[in-house]
Amino acid sequence: MAGKAEPSGSPGPERLDLTAYLAAEGFERQLIAELGDVEAVRGRLVLARGPRRRACWAQNVWLAPLRIPVGSIQDAARKLRSIQRNWAFCPVAHHRRAALVQELLPHVSAKPPQFPCLPPEAPLGSWALLERDLVLASPSCTSPFPNGVATFVEPRSGPPNRAYLKLWEALALLGCWPAPGERCLDAGSSPGGWAWALSRLGASVLCVDRAPLAPSVARLRGIEHRRASAFSVQPRESEPLDWILSDVVCYPERLWTWVERWLASGKCSRFVCTVKFQGTAHYGAIDRFAAVPGSRLVHLSHNKHELTWMFAASSRGPSSGSPSPAASPRAS
Ligand SMILES: C[S@@+](CC[C@H](N)C(=O)[O-])C[C@H]1O[C@@H](n2cnc3c(N)ncnc32)[C@H](O)[C@@H]1O
Repeated sequence: MAGKAEPSGSPGPERLDLTAYLAAEGFERQLIAELGDVEAVRGRLVLARGPRRRACWAQNVWLAPLRIPVGSIQDAARKLRSIQRNWAFCPVAHHRRAALVQELLPHVSAKPPQFPCLPPEAPLGSWALLERDLVLASPSCTSPFPNGVATFVEPRSGPPNRAYLKLWEALALLGCWPAPGERCLDAGSSPGGWAWALSRLGASVLCVDRAPLAPSVARLRGIEHRRASAFSVQPRESEPLDWILSDVVCYPERLWTWVERWLASGKCSRFVCTVKFQGTAHYGAIDRFAAVPGSRLVHLSHNKHELTWMFAASSRGPSSGSPSPAASPRAS
C-alpha cells in the first residue's frame, strides 16, 4: 500500500509509520505525556511515530494507520469498504461530511450485549476524516469496541450503583469471570455494585470495607461482609482465593504493596484492581503495575480518574463457566 493511483485516478491508501492513540475522554494531557514525543494531535486522536508504545491512557490504539486521499464522500466510503466491512467512525473534524461517509458504510450493530459475554470477535477498524479530502483509517485496533466504549444491557433495578459496569468491562476484556462457587475477595466493596455483579455470577464473595453494604446486597446469595480495612486481609493468614477484585479508594502505592504480596504468595492468580489517582502526584505507581508480565493496565470506558489493572495467570485455564462470544454479531 504505497499510495499508488487507483483506476479512478485518485491515489490509493498509504501505510504510515505511525500509531494513532485515542485518548480516554478528558485524559488527553495524560496520554500525550505518557507517549513522549508526538507527531500531531487531532481532537482526542494523538499520532506518534513508530510502532505501538505503552499507552495506558488511550481508550483505543490504531495499530496500522492508512492515509487515504478521497475525492468525494462516495469515494471515501468505497475505499473504506474495499479494505474491510466493519468500521467505527471517530469524530475529529468535518463532522457533517464524515457523517455522510459513515451512512454509506455497512451498518455495525451497536446493540449492547448482556453480560457475561466476550467482546465481539469480528475485526473492527476505526476511521476519521482529518481533512475534507483526507481519511485516516486503521483496519486493526486494540479495542474490540467502537472507539473503545463498552456498553452492556443494564438492569432496571438491583445494583445500588453503576460501578458494576466497570467490573463487567474489565472481565469481558480479560475474557474470563468468576465461575459459580469461586472464592472472591471484593476489596472496598461498599455500597455493593461489584458484589451484586459477583453474586449474579454465583461466586462466593468476601466483601471487605469499613463502610456498610447496601442491605439489598448484603442479603444476596454468596455474600459475606467484613467491616475492616481490605489491607488487613493478607495472604499469610488467608486461604487461597480465586479472584481479588479491588475498588478501594487509596494511594496507588498502598494498593501495589498489597497486590505485590498476593502475587508473590501465589495464593491468588486472578486480579481486577482499580488504581485511583488524585492529581498527578502518584502516576509513578503506573510503572509498577504495568511491569507485571502478562498483565494489562488500561483506562476502561467506565473508568474515571483511574486505571484498571487486570491479571489472569494462564496456568489455571479459563475460569468462567464457558465464555462464549455472546456479544451481538457486528452485522445487523
Ligand atoms: C469507589 S467505592 C467502591 C464501590 C464498590 N466497588 C461498588 O461497586 O459499590 C470505594 C470504597 O473503598 C472503601 N475504602 C477506602 N479505604 C478502604 C480500606 N482501607 N479498606 C477497605 N475499603 C476501603 C470506601 O469505604 C468505599 O466504600
